[in-house]
Amino acid sequence: MKFFVDTADTKDIADLAATGLIDGVTTNPSLIAKSGRPFAEVIAEICGLTDGPVSAEVVAIDADGMISEGRKLAKIAENVAVKLPLTWDGLKACRTLADDGIPVNVTLCFSANQALLAAKAGAAFISPFIGRLDDIHIDGMDLIQEIRQIYDNYMFETEILAASIRSPNHVKLSALAGADVMTAPPAVIRSLVSHPLTDKGLETFLADAKKAGIKV
Ligand code: E4P
Repeated sequence: MKFFVDTADTKDIADLAATGLIDGVTTNPSLIAKSGRPFAEVIAEICGLTDGPVSAEVVAIDADGMISEGRKLAKIAENVAVKLPLTWDGLKACRTLADDGIPVNVTLCFSANQALLAAKAGAAFISPFIGRLDDIHIDGMDLIQEIRQIYDNYMFETEILAASIRSPNHVKLSALAGADVMTAPPAVIRSLVSHPLTDKGLETFLADAKKAGIKV
């Protein structure tokens, strides 16, 4: 499973990229706004921190506007993936950009039929939003499972990018459901390593090593 980090904070991205565990980055207009920096500048910097795809989202809502913004974003760096919303205009723009050879991440997916449309429109990634479904008491994992089955039935190559991940449990369940990629905030990715028995076990090993004077 590939790991993308969902942030526009370049310090966090650089820190996590240094672990070698990060395969790409996703951003959205809310995350860019939070960074307080100019859009193109922050995307260019992020693209230099990873070789993997960096999702940059358009803000136009009509197909022509999305296509022109998408082409502009794709010029920032080779590893930009243009993020488009799951609307009819978004799907139209997706087909055009995909035909241009620009990878598209279709975002704000909340149903299996939406995911089917995105795959037919040539999306490189489909982003089902798990946490936002959970927020309205719908199990987001059912959606990942449905999309996995549909994409496998028809051998669609669109990668399932589990998004709006809010907890380590979301990461585990997405992996079990067969998501190709998950994107999560830095804090969730960092929390994956933690287990109290790991900490306790290490403490005991180090204390025993010290007592016995073990040196490596
Ligand atoms: C993904 O591409 C989105 O940027 C993100 O996962 C949204 O997460 P949220 O629902 O926690 O804002």
